Amino acid sequence: MREKLELLQRKRAEAALGGGAERIAAQHEKGKMTARERLDALLDPGTFVELDRFVTHRWTDFGLADEKYLGDGVVTGYGRIDGRLAYVFSQDFTVFGGSLSEAHAEKICKVMDLALKNGAPVIGLNDSGGARIQEGVVSLGGYADIFLRNTLASGVVPQISAILGPCAGGAVYSPAITDFVFMVRGISYMFVTGPSVVKTVTHEEVDFEGLGGADVHGATSGVAHFVHDSERDALAAIRKLAAFIPSNNLDEPPIRPTADPADRRDEELLDVVPDEPTKPYDMHEVIRRVVDDGEFLEVHRDFAGNLLVGFARLGGRPVGVVANQPAVLAGVLDINASLKGARFIRFCDAFNIPLVTFEDVPGFLPGVAQEHGGIIKHGAKLLFAYCEATVPKLTVITRKAYGGAYDVMNSKHVRGDYNVAWPTAEIAVMGPKGAVDILYKDDATEARELEYREKFAHPYLAAARGYLDDIIDPRDTRPRLIDALTTLATKRDRNPPKKHGNIPL
Ligand code: HXC
Repeated sequence: MREKLELLQRKRAEAALGGGAERIAAQHEKGKMTARERLDALLDPGTFVELDRFVTHRWTDFGLADEKYLGDGVVTGYGRIDGRLAYVFSQDFTVFGGSLSEAHAEKICKVMDLALKNGAPVIGLNDSGGARIQEGVVSLGGYADIFLRNTLASGVVPQISAILGPCAGGAVYSPAITDFVFMVRGISYMFVTGPSVVKTVTHEEVDFEGLGGADVHGATSGVAHFVHDSERDALAAIRKLAAFIPSNNLDEPPIRPTADPADRRDEELLDVVPDEPTKPYDMHEVIRRVVDDGEFLEVHRDFAGNLLVGFARLGGRPVGVVANQPAVLAGVLDINASLKGARFIRFCDAFNIPLVTFEDVPGFLPGVAQEHGGIIKHGAKLLFAYCEATVPKLTVITRKAYGGAYDVMNSKHVRGDYNVAWPTAEIAVMGPKGAVDILYKDDATEARELEYREKFAHPYLAAARGYLDDIIDPRDTRPRLIDALTTLATKRDRNPPKKHGNIPL
């Protein structure tokens, strides 16, 4: 027995070394952690249980018969985050550059299947040269097996991807299907084809960072939801995110008791909205003053800053916050803001996270670029997402609610459960100046603008119709929202039975 145990220990030690000490040193030299170091940083200490550490590839061509590494380039298993179960895989760049073989794919599929069966999130740490070139179509098949599972698991268990190295070719599509993508400056890259192929095909000169680095995907393409300066920061942020979301679509989000009183009024909220209606202010300020302990985990922070989305808690309950940001482009809705909002709302709705909307929106952004870019179909996504959501939906109109954007931003008409406005709210088809220009053309005087403002630029007409449940003192926003959330905890609402809707993609 002892001899056999020794063999087991030796093999375990061999598996732990992945591609060997030299390649581990090379990984460290690049400023990157190893696959196992990453799992240690992600999971509660001592909770990782490894599966399939003795799996190897089955390929013989290209001299591979003699080149086998235990685990075959991916460490898989499960562990705990704040005591809650999570399935994980962490690609090991020291073994064939973390490339995906048939066996490697099978290991990932196994943890995905377990996650789906047991109702727990899947967290993938990606660091891979893509399809294992030596294995050809078998490797491509492995990717497709993962894509299928990503799709079937979507909306059932949360899926989180960290990109901690190169991510090329079709390999980007698995993370893209998952709910949240984390990237790290200087080490993460995502592209369908790399710089050299780009140069051949389009004659554009671009480097890795400029084509698919963390900042490009965090701010320009929107592919990355979170961008961090170090792997440790990114892994710590995944733990923070996990604390807001339930383990699966049948669970409720985890409640975290808070010392922040539910009846806390905030005097400063009286002075956040400027008297001058065109003057910007920072909606972050409103969110922080209302939510528990001022904590707001912002998603897509650097992308489409005219709409803010992220997680917070109210009275201990996680909520998804969607808020127009008057400090960026006056809070107007454009293509990117619509995409950002729609995806976030659908995540929250899939995972029973109530939505709280703070609204100050002058409308949809006019212009040829927006129209030709498809603002109609993209804006419709945001509308569709709000309409179909059945989680508790709360809205606070702080200032403007103009035009189609009034309807879209969780109005009563799209099944808002608790809709209130501050006395500073202006709810109309459009702003006074635009309205008077159209109605009176050359005769559009300041007096007429003032007349229109007095008639429409307030919340009382909407409240008279019951489109608003109340007009509230801004200082009471937190207590009112917490009370509404509590009453909505037993909300039941259902959409008509269907295979699935046809969101305007
Ligand atoms: C097999 C690979 C590999 C791959 C890297 N390696 N990529 N082995 N298949 N795809 C091996 C290298 O041979 C090397 O082995 C080790 O991993 C480290 O690679 P280096 O090139 O030395 O590292 P680095 O300089 O950091 O460059 C990393 C890299 C580069 C940018 C990822 O290796 C690269 O461009 N790889 C190929 C990327 C690619 O084109 N993949 C296919 C994409 S198509 P040794 O033994 O020297 O340590 C695809 C289709 C999926 O993925 C389709 C799904 C629908």
